[in-house]
Amino acid sequence: MLGNFIYSNPTKIYFGDNVQKNLVKALSGIGKKVLLTYGGGSIKKNGVYDDVINALKSTGKEVVELPGVMPNPTVDKLIEGCRIARENNVDFILAVGGGSTIDYAKGVSVAAWYDGDAWERFWVRQENPKPGERIIPVGAVLTMAGTGSEMNGGSVITNRATKMKIGKVFRDDVMPKFAVLNPRYTFSLPHRQMVAGIFDTMSHILEQYFTGDDDSTSDYLAEGLMRSVIESSRVAVKDPENYEARSNLMWSATWALNTLIGEGKSQDWMVHMIGQAIGAYTDATHGMTLSGVSEAYYRHIMKYALKRFARFARVVWEIPAEGKSEEQLASEGIDALVAWIKEIGAASEITSLGVTEDMLEGIADATIILNGGYKTLTRDEVIEILRQSL
Ligand code: NZQ
Ligand code: ZN
Repeated sequence: MLGNFIYSNPTKIYFGDNVQKNLVKALSGIGKKVLLTYGGGSIKKNGVYDDVINALKSTGKEVVELPGVMPNPTVDKLIEGCRIARENNVDFILAVGGGSTIDYAKGVSVAAWYDGDAWERFWVRQENPKPGERIIPVGAVLTMAGTGSEMNGGSVITNRATKMKIGKVFRDDVMPKFAVLNPRYTFSLPHRQMVAGIFDTMSHILEQYFTGDDDSTSDYLAEGLMRSVIESSRVAVKDPENYEARSNLMWSATWALNTLIGEGKSQDWMVHMIGQAIGAYTDATHGMTLSGVSEAYYRHIMKYALKRFARFARVVWEIPAEGKSEEQLASEGIDALVAWIKEIGAASEITSLGVTEDMLEGIADATIILNGGYKTLTRDEVIEILRQSL
């Protein structure tokens, strides 16, 4: 571990299927007037809504509902939520859903009492709320594993007018105060969403694993998580109601992006930058945008980090190294990743997500280029990766 860091994570986790007890415990210590925000209605079909309402009632809360948070939540929806939070003067926001709903709640949390253009300030200019500025605390009940939003400060918002999808990572004070994680709540996810969440988790780990070359505990943690995700994904795609597999996937997703495995190293995030730009153009499912570009991206950067890619093959995929050059082994690791993408049914290209040749220039313009990975891409390289992914 050659890097210096400060680590803290304020989110309290209630994990497991003794949910009513957990919800009541979690809600007991929070505000009186709760803004209950959720998505397009899945929680009303699978019973989660009833569980949450019962817990809110039994703890004596006044509830204001804010439904209709769409996947890839938009600036317009954010503005609506801020108005409702303000008009009702809520003192807590409870997000019930996947990453979109939890990200959205964090957005409302910081933007509700800000008078200016919140999109420009927090997402475009990447500012943080100033000390003393009013932030509405957030809690989460997670129904979809993947983003890690339940235990991080991330909030990804889409501006459809400018075709920009931008993630802002807020500080500790915006992170959920608690998150209730019940693996059974994820059983009702459509297969495609479950798989998207699995690949999103894997991608979060890869973004933090394919950087640096020192001997770092963070990388060993990442390898363990990847092995767990691969193992459990294989069980869950065949048997979606396997509690053991779904609980491992849920917990792995949380740890993949609650900052732990990125400590002490730089981070890449270029698969996410390209994926988010695709999302801004197509509104495609987040995890699928990542799986769709991963093969082309990793084949492209492999030559800049052969040693790490060879280690990925050996440790994560258990590919025997004997008699192989580092390059051959590295390449076989990417082959294994691609085979697994296909095996679980994630997208292995971006044409099926609605991307067409004529969009590539625009998607490249919307791609924010970062420099934490093994190779800082040029715009031409982004276009080449996109073309290879069609
Ligand atoms: O809206 P409802 O009806 O609830 O349906 C949702 C939605 O259609 C459905 N769903 C969720 N739980 C369900 C369920 N359906 C049945 N049963 C359940 N238990 O699944 C669909 C997708 O939900 P969504 O919340 O959009 O998925 P996800 O958790 O993948 O979140 C995606 C958003 O998170 C952002 C993405 O960019 C995207 O906007 N991300 C957030 C990150 C963070 N906070 O750190 C990092 C990620 O990389 C990611 O960028
Ligand atoms: Zn992601």
